[in-house]
Amino acid sequence: MSDKGLRDVIAAQTSISDIDGTAGRLWYVGYEIEDLARNASFEEIIYLLHNLELPTRAELEDLSRFLVREREPHPFLARMMPTLAQNTSPMSMLRTSVSASSAFDPDGWDESPEAEYRKAMRLIAEAPTLIATFDRVRTGREVIPPDPGLSHAANFLWMLHGQEPDPEDAGVLDTTFILYADHTMNASTFTARIIASTLSDTFSAMTGAIGALKGPLHGGANEEAQKMAEEVGKPENAEAYVRDRLARKEKIFGFGHAVYKTMDPRATVLKQLCRELGERRKQPKWYEIFSAIEETTFEQKGLYPNVDLYAAGVYHMLGIPTDLMTPIFALARMVGWTAHVREQYADNRIIRPGSEYIGPRDRTYVPLDER
Ligand code: ACO
Repeated sequence: MSDKGLRDVIAAQTSISDIDGTAGRLWYVGYEIEDLARNASFEEIIYLLHNLELPTRAELEDLSRFLVREREPHPFLARMMPTLAQNTSPMSMLRTSVSASSAFDPDGWDESPEAEYRKAMRLIAEAPTLIATFDRVRTGREVIPPDPGLSHAANFLWMLHGQEPDPEDAGVLDTTFILYADHTMNASTFTARIIASTLSDTFSAMTGAIGALKGPLHGGANEEAQKMAEEVGKPENAEAYVRDRLARKEKIFGFGHAVYKTMDPRATVLKQLCRELGERRKQPKWYEIFSAIEETTFEQKGLYPNVDLYAAGVYHMLGIPTDLMTPIFALARMVGWTAHVREQYADNRIIRPGSEYIGPRDRTYVPLDER
């Protein structure tokens, strides 16, 4: 009997993150996600997921210095950007740029654990620059160089908007990065681990992971959730919209989950962030629309929101264009992907599931003229 979607397959052992889908709980290396979202910085999470311990102050400063130094991608990628900005989606740009980065990494084909760690940190460092640069180039605005005095999240807002970021906005974005950083054996992480399990390189694994994340059933759902909220327009329309969609057997994006059978704990944090940001920005509309969609979807189908629903509202209010929402998910999940790839390399066996054959058997070849 096949296990469609591999729900009951344990594909790897991991020390990076864990989920209790019935209780709606998520831990990074044993720390509850709400605790980390409330108290940690994204840079601490990068260290934690890769080193399985929270950093000391000196370790954090070391890592932050490395990330700041590596924010500027290779000039070749900057030269390629106008072509990509004209002809591709931001996710395709990210996939192509990450793949091309393999040609310029100073560690080259060194596959020692130390080199793999540095390669991971470089990819994490350069991803926000690529995304912000893409948006500046496609909208015909000057490219803003990274600011070494700013955190990963604040620097992204700076490079995207070209204005000194509001510290509270940067804090909100930082928290969303933490929430998106890892999530056990999701489709894109599994993709990355499968590629790594053939002893292929980190860049190939990241390229594959970005491709897997792009789909609307996975990371693409935050963009679809925002489009849905825009189509709904006001909270009073939510009920009819959800009913219609469900009657047509269409998915409500930002709802349901392969593992959580209750509220996704990341959605709880994001719901609060969306409400608070809406109050601060005097834009309560988005929270109201999303929560009206939530209410009807639960009534109609018993489905809970996942990470992508309220994240869309938060990103929209931070002035992030809708088609950059999944690339932002990718820049945060790059941390989890690279940590999983290093974990795979450390204790590898090629991943090769079986399949249940359901086609015809015992056939004999018929010559071409006789068919
Ligand atoms: N809208 C409408 N119906 C849904 C939804 C949804 N969002 N989610 C699940 N269902 C339906 C399924 O179609 C299925 O119906 P059926 O029994 O009539 O066929 C039933 O609910 C049970 O589905 P599950 O087995 O719980 O869902 P599955 O594990 O197959 O899929 C998935 C999980 C892909 C996340 C699904 O819920 C979905 O498509 N959601 C919308 C897209 C989305 O938000 N994706 C982001 C997920 S989180 C992440 O990747 C970051």
